[in-house]
Amino acid sequence: MNNRYVDLIDQTFYFPQEGFDIDSNGYLEFNGVPLKYLIEKYGTPFKVYYLPRIGEQIKKAKNLFTRAIKASGYTGRYYYSYCTKSNHFSHVLEEVLQHDVQLETSSAFDLDLIQRLAARNLINPANYIICNGFKPENYKRRIVELINTTFDNLIPVCDNVEELSYYASNFTKKCKIGLRVATEEEPNFEFYTSRLGIRNSEVIPLYKEKIVDNPLFELKMLHFFVDTGIKDTLYYWGELKKALKVYCSLRKLCPTLNAINIGGGLPIRNSLGFEFDYKYMIREIVNNVQSACASEQVEMPDIFTEFGKYTVGESGANIFETLAQKQQNDSEKWYMIDNSLMTTLPDTWGIGERFILLPINKWKNEYQRVNIGGLSCDNSDYYNAEVNQAQVYLPTIDSDDTEPLYLGFFHTGAYQDSISGYGGIKHCLIPSPKQILIYRDELGNLVDIMARPEQTSDEMLKILGY
Ligand SMILES: Cc1ncc(COP(=O)(O)O)c(C=O)c1O
Repeated sequence: MNNRYVDLIDQTFYFPQEGFDIDSNGYLEFNGVPLKYLIEKYGTPFKVYYLPRIGEQIKKAKNLFTRAIKASGYTGRYYYSYCTKSNHFSHVLEEVLQHDVQLETSSAFDLDLIQRLAARNLINPANYIICNGFKPENYKRRIVELINTTFDNLIPVCDNVEELSYYASNFTKKCKIGLRVATEEEPNFEFYTSRLGIRNSEVIPLYKEKIVDNPLFELKMLHFFVDTGIKDTLYYWGELKKALKVYCSLRKLCPTLNAINIGGGLPIRNSLGFEFDYKYMIREIVNNVQSACASEQVEMPDIFTEFGKYTVGESGANIFETLAQKQQNDSEKWYMIDNSLMTTLPDTWGIGERFILLPINKWKNEYQRVNIGGLSCDNSDYYNAEVNQAQVYLPTIDSDDTEPLYLGFFHTGAYQDSISGYGGIKHCLIPSPKQILIYRDELGNLVDIMARPEQTSDEMLKILGY
């Protein structure tokens, strides 16, 4: 019999592969962790974090940058920063910070988190804290407080001119700043230019008008980020080259500028067939920066990255039990699982993200095409496509099976908990707004009350383990 699930995987992919293997009893192991043991001990559904994976990822990227820098004779340094929004939990930050990394933040509450980390001596004022994003008053205020008091290496990356004006009025000493240059979006996207950052053509005029003569500003960093990620495409290399052109022009005017920040976007395995040549891509990034600087005769900058998904994505997995199978017509079979896909893995629903999906048991059963159904009432609560194919195959379930079929979605460690609002946390730690209720009294007049105030940073940080 060769239409068993195990044969399908064997014929389609290289298996076993890093992080995935089958134990002697036929159960899937994730990074050597016996998932069957966790299922028996804790019951499904659950999310598991294999924390050592975080350090392994950081070490791998650091090594590749270090080697690329050495091999090419690059004279700048490399700084690995972790983008906290990809996963803010204390267990993640504690692991990340064991590997000599810098941090990138995206909101006011994120800076409260930075202070909690500093209070625990997990970071110190020498760490680079890169503050990104469009900044409302409370975020800018927290930046100014931290810079004016403790964090000399906290770098607000200005998203717009108004932000710069705020710092001009509120810094009490000379502080490092960065500028974010807006990239063009991918050609098939709805918008032409990213809403984040300063238009390419406005960067130099802004420097001349607002920065060069202001004794409070030390322009250190130029930031750019291609939202769709680092890919070996004309689009990505084109955007990098454009940003480097701006960097070189600015560097000729500004001797303190010595860092280029290329943001996040390093991909992770979202299929067993995933192929991405990390070594080649990192070498090419370093080579591109080097040759742009050589041809413009400017000094090579330090390179900063802010890898979020890459750092933490591969550490996480969501495990479910199949509660039942339902044949809804001749061709549509459903495996109903014991939680909602929409709420536990919101990216599968919101942006069509794909994760590695594997059964934990029954690898020797035959396989069949199925749709996976979540428990919520929503007709969008399903998963039925893998990375390069619009179908999902899983082992059959025999009616006399005593053991249920268990399913795992792997490499789900980034963004899923915050976007799904685990326990009340929020994407980028942007708080839930207050709730106002409106009544009409007996006379028909409107009466309003604030039923619930805006979520506080203490509430959010408590959920995250701080
Ligand atoms: C400015 C910035 N840096 C870094 C990241 C992290 O991206 P990723 O998780 O793809 O590495 C993001 C994600 O949105 C971002 O906006």
